[in-house]
Amino acid sequence: MSGRVEKGITILGIESSCDDTSAAVIRDGVILSNVVAGQKVHEAFGGVVPELASRAHQQNIIPVVDQAIKGAGIVKSEITAVAFTRGPGLLGSLLVGTSFAKSFALALNVPLIDVNHLQAHVLALFIQEPGLPYSPPEFPFLCLLVSGGNSQIILVENHLEMKILGQTIDDAAGEAFDKCAKVMGLPYPGGPYIDKLSKLGDPGRFKFSKPSVPGLDYSFSGLKTNFLYFLRDNLKEAPDFIEKNKEDLSASLQRTIIDILTGKLVKAAQKTGIREIAVAGGVSANSGLREALNVLAHKKAWNLFIPKIAYTMDNAAMIAMAGYFKYFRNDFAGQEVVPFSRTVI
Ligand code: KG4
Repeated sequence: MSGRVEKGITILGIESSCDDTSAAVIRDGVILSNVVAGQKVHEAFGGVVPELASRAHQQNIIPVVDQAIKGAGIVKSEITAVAFTRGPGLLGSLLVGTSFAKSFALALNVPLIDVNHLQAHVLALFIQEPGLPYSPPEFPFLCLLVSGGNSQIILVENHLEMKILGQTIDDAAGEAFDKCAKVMGLPYPGGPYIDKLSKLGDPGRFKFSKPSVPGLDYSFSGLKTNFLYFLRDNLKEAPDFIEKNKEDLSASLQRTIIDILTGKLVKAAQKTGIREIAVAGGVSANSGLREALNVLAHKKAWNLFIPKIAYTMDNAAMIAMAGYFKYFRNDFAGQEVVPFSRTVI
């Protein structure tokens, strides 16, 4: 790899698994830039439209990467390796990031590193901010990974070895937030709207069903159906039921989701005897979940690790971070690598 200007290990990360095009630069584990371009095109549809997502990624990828490199204050020749999200996610979207990463790595004559999106969500906990104190979790730790497509309790043995102790058997927690928000007429994705409304509502006003799934697995589809039928029945009596009760409905729904999530996490901590506890994924931005975890950490003497909000959502910083750890294992991908839509860690 000739002509390289080595100034530490500099990883360019690329994320395109769903509806955010993102690129980031990490040098020696420290974040230099993280650019995320969202896609407004889906708003009118109340959910992500895969074909529109891949088209928007195609438009966004070059300016986003360019901005990430410029924002990091580096030039292309300083990039040591290119890391990209291989999956899971939407295949058409993943193809854009994968193809771009392949050609960029080839053009720069640097290694290509494929990254599992779920593993990267966990590794977001290891991103260092320039000039800020750094205290990541110690191994082994438990991570509650809650995103739009996954709800898992993961035993993290080291940066790249992770075991799923429990996971959802149907919908994910993020899906429960989004689908219930949709039936309330809130925009997509509904999680942040439910969070905001919850702050003004009474979480004890309405009772929704909680699943009884054995072990450490989750289920959220029953709650979604229960919420839907509850609204349908009440709307028959009062057509303005949602409008009049949206704060209490949100707070009660959010409380139920948090109780389900934390209930299994407490069980996992008891079962494994581990008190290093972390949370990751888009739903970990939820203010009620963060508060509930802080209360539990205090009560159970847990060391709790919560990522910065910017690193909870889909972002390329976490992809670059995962790429950084894989780089030291010489764990590289060849040009024949293809994306995958579904996987376990
Ligand atoms: O991790 P993420 O950005 O994408 C996936 O990889 O799935 O997660 C997106 C999910 C969506 O379901 C969104 O509604 C949810 O995270 N979310 C929230 C909040 N912010 C994002 N859910 C509840 N409260 C929030 N504040």
